[in-house]
Amino acid sequence: MGSCSVMRSIIRYIVIGLVIVMGMILLTRFISYKVHEAELSPPPVKCVPANQARFDEEGFEIISQDPPCEVLESINRVYLQKVKPVLQVKCLMCHGIADQVPLYAIIPPASWLVKRDMQNAKKRMDMRYDFPFLGHGAPNDDLEALAKVVREDSMPPLRYKLMHWRSGLTENEKELLLKWVQESLQTLNRQGG
Ligand code: HEC
Repeated sequence: MGSCSVMRSIIRYIVIGLVIVMGMILLTRFISYKVHEAELSPPPVKCVPANQARFDEEGFEIISQDPPCEVLESINRVYLQKVKPVLQVKCLMCHGIADQVPLYAIIPPASWLVKRDMQNAKKRMDMRYDFPFLGHGAPNDDLEALAKVVREDSMPPLRYKLMHWRSGLTENEKELLLKWVQESLQTLNRQGG
């Protein structure tokens, strides 16, 4: 009888503790914390201007399949103007440069999870340098990966949506992203073919 009530009060304390922790995490979700990220190292060299030929050691011209800088820059102009403002709100805390994070993101234990998410997000899709993104190799692979998560509605991750209820992409935003992906893929293909 005695050990049973001891068990019960232990369970009660655990439950109360969990509720308090959850409540604190939820509260700190509404407080923003200004972060200063380390300076970005320069992006890895990605493109060559269209009119600039490259030669190998033996003097043969390298015929490259990579899109020239002008093509990437024209896609990036549309990205900066139309697409980035959407991603800024909903994606770039993990995939880009966060200038503000919710307070829970710096308080353990939630911060451990958040930090891991932010690292993994950039490993898979690094949007810190704008377009071209990094992560999947060629620029069109990144675009296709982006379209895939938009269609499947798999980003942001569910755990993030639970904390940020309106962080999912709206239908309009999805349409805008998919349209940009499609146009950009066409631009890349036109140049390649
Ligand atoms: C809470 C952090 C977080 C947010 C916010 C977030 N992501 Fe992610 N994202 C991740 C993580 C972690 C991964 C890698 C692991 C995984 O797939 O879950 C990832 C992976 C991806 C990938 C690569 C998938 C692949 O096939 O390799 C894309 C594309 C992506 N996210 C797009 C987005 C977009 C678009 C948004 C905004 C609508 C967004 N993410 C918001 C954390 C985040």
